[in-house]
Amino acid sequence: MSQPVKIDFVPLDSVSVQAPPAGKRGKNKAPQTLVLFMGQDFNFGEATRKLIGDEGEALIKRAAAAAKFKGKPSSALDLIAPAGIGFERLLVIGTGPVGDDAKKKDRESDSRPEDHLALGGFVMSKIGAGSHATIFFDLPRAPREPSSAAAELVEGIKLRDYKFDLYKTKKKDEEESEPAEIAIAVEDPAAARREAKSRDAVAEGVNLARTLVNEPANVLYPEEFARRAQELEKLGVEVKVLDVAAMKELGMGALLAVGQGSDRESRFVVMRWRGGDKKEGKSKPIAFIGKGVCFDTGGISIKPAAGMEDMKGDMAGAACVVGLMHALAARKAKVDAIGAIGIVENMPGPNAQRPGDIIKSMSGQTIEVINTDAEGRLVLADVLWYVQDKFKPQFMIDLATLTGAVMVALGQEHAGLFSNDDTLAERITEAGKETNEKVWRLPLGPAYDKLIDSKFADMKNTGGRHGGSITAAQFLQRFVNGTPWAHLDIAGTGMNSPANDINQSWGSGFGVRLLDRLVSEYYEG
Ligand code: BES
Ligand code: MN
Ligand code: ZN
Repeated sequence: MSQPVKIDFVPLDSVSVQAPPAGKRGKNKAPQTLVLFMGQDFNFGEATRKLIGDEGEALIKRAAAAAKFKGKPSSALDLIAPAGIGFERLLVIGTGPVGDDAKKKDRESDSRPEDHLALGGFVMSKIGAGSHATIFFDLPRAPREPSSAAAELVEGIKLRDYKFDLYKTKKKDEEESEPAEIAIAVEDPAAARREAKSRDAVAEGVNLARTLVNEPANVLYPEEFARRAQELEKLGVEVKVLDVAAMKELGMGALLAVGQGSDRESRFVVMRWRGGDKKEGKSKPIAFIGKGVCFDTGGISIKPAAGMEDMKGDMAGAACVVGLMHALAARKAKVDAIGAIGIVENMPGPNAQRPGDIIKSMSGQTIEVINTDAEGRLVLADVLWYVQDKFKPQFMIDLATLTGAVMVALGQEHAGLFSNDDTLAERITEAGKETNEKVWRLPLGPAYDKLIDSKFADMKNTGGRHGGSITAAQFLQRFVNGTPWAHLDIAGTGMNSPANDINQSWGSGFGVRLLDRLVSEYYEG
């Protein structure tokens, strides 16, 4: 994979417009870029005004008029070889309204008022791969916490910088370049560096999840997925991998039924990060559960050919859980967290399960398989049951690319949220707004639950044409045994979702930042 961007912090007063920092050039002699920020109506921060002086301001104003650059958000003024400036390129990034105008806009928009993450992503897209840049991080609208704003900027840069090019043997010129090198000038470099450490951990977690989703299913089959999860041991995560024999022993008949049509053996991985107060030992862990269908052909109820290649991403839920565990461990979160993922491949074949089969789940409940393409819920049924039974967690949150129907309901803007616990649902919704990984709650209830009663078994695995995401969630609820629980249907958000300032990858890594925020806000310490 291409080398990730290199970032360091330097003091604001070490930067001068006359000369870029010496000795910062790589072999490719990337041009030195100076990045400045400008709000609407030619608003500059104090330090920026001092840095560029009257001449610099006049230069920018003249160029801005010619380019019709007004300082709007997500706009930039790109000046090559500007006269009187030591850098080879001057990049002025628009940051939008300031003062009362800004407050008015905050009230009107549903986006976050100070989105330094998106700003970092946008800046990175303008700087470009292989560049050497100095970002003068002085905003016209001063952030409340400058160091954490700078750390968020870095996180945005790293998320935008992510590229999955492992299998491209012929690179285009612009892809050949060395990694970008970026110096971020801030008031307090030491403080920014400290904060950036934990933001870094989260960005790594997101990018890890993205890679797992992007990997093709001939590479990332269940055993290989388990191996990748095992790499978290390096960060101090305990990882236990259960094979088919061990799952048979536990009675995981639902998960195993899905995997039985494949030559690739199923796996069940349990991860634990013990960052909570060890002396206390009383507090219950929190638990995250992921659907890990490495490839979903539909099984005997086979899917149509068009778009089936996307089903390599049917493990996005499990990928998110691994990415989250990475983030929590790498930033040494003060929490006791379980990650549990069921990893299978859903294939047709002589040994595959059939429509009409009746299988027995670990809970003892029997399931009539109406459609072998409704396989995710079968996998999760046993994982949910195992986790509540073994760990008695404070709560369980599962993530799954569970239904196409969730995209019919919500498009790709929100993940579907289902929960038996209003507090948990509200907290997830809040964390979703703060991270811009948005969720929308959909209902559960006895009338929906009835739709999955079966003529021959305790339940069936599909609920008819209507409310497909809801009946899938009702199915899961039958395996949570009263534990506070939330289910995120990420079929629309985990893969192939619209690109934005911080994500250009097919696999988005959705859920890592959301759940990391949930943990840091409510469950740490
Ligand atoms: N993995 C799919 C859901 C999916 C579809 C995810 C498209 C991402 C994009 C899931 O296993 C599935 O096939 N669900 C069926 C359920 C149906 C058979 C009740 C569906 O949504 O059609
Ligand atoms: Mn399916
Ligand atoms: Zn599936």
